Amino acid sequence: MDRMKFDAKALQSRLAGKMIGCRLHFFPTVDSTNRVALRFAREGAPEGTVVLADRQTAGRGRLDRIWQSPPGCNLYISILLRPAIAPAEAPQITLMSGVAVAEMLSLLCPAGVGLKWPNDVQVRGRKICGILTELRIAGRAVEAVVVGIGVNVNMAGADFDPAYRETATSLSQETEQTHSREDLAYLLCERFEQWYETFLREGFAPVREGWLARSEMAGKRVRVHFRDEVQEGVVAGIDHDGALLLTDALGAIRRITAGDASILKG
Ligand code: BTN
Repeated sequence: MDRMKFDAKALQSRLAGKMIGCRLHFFPTVDSTNRVALRFAREGAPEGTVVLADRQTAGRGRLDRIWQSPPGCNLYISILLRPAIAPAEAPQITLMSGVAVAEMLSLLCPAGVGLKWPNDVQVRGRKICGILTELRIAGRAVEAVVVGIGVNVNMAGADFDPAYRETATSLSQETEQTHSREDLAYLLCERFEQWYETFLREGFAPVREGWLARSEMAGKRVRVHFRDEVQEGVVAGIDHDGALLLTDALGAIRRITAGDASILKG
């Protein structure tokens, strides 16, 4: 793995005047950028605040998993938003973030970038990015949304935890080049800002279209685990609110609002 110092100052000056990145907090080491961003949210930090780290000691994944976060190679970034949405609409922001990340990655890796519901960006079917959206709720309203994005940038295959070696990838593995994390962070903030503005102005419909255009799931048979429940079916798309639509064995359409989906072979 090539370890490189992250130039947060250079990134900060490139983000001057932007909404996403209006405040940038960089930490060489932190437990979790999401946890820190949630604390900033509680302390009143403005929308667009970004927390970045070179390394996380307790990177959080979905469903209580750990996000492998070694130093000097990847992007660990959390973006603080304050949209006027209901808690049930927050998953739409996860899907929107996936579209922004997929667009950013497609600029550097033109082939094979795709989205897997609800929060994965993949290249050739291998996970390159995970997204964890966490909320701060006051009464019934969303006070803040923190979108945590982990992108495997310059991580070598051998550095992945053996459990993920076959199913994960990095941008350097896919392109056989080392990439500037500052450039990627800049592009990500830029794409994210564009999509977030679209979402606030026009709602979920354009995000849904962008997501479906990049999804690798339509027509595929999937199994979705959620807590103790397992559902299987053929993906018919996503609903107007971001729920996964599955056609079951009897031809009925089921809406799945949360879970961990895997595409079944054959
Ligand atoms: C997943 O696929 O399970 C989601 C992984 C999200 C990881 C990112 S890294 C930056 C941010 N800080 C965290 O602690 N988690 C997210």
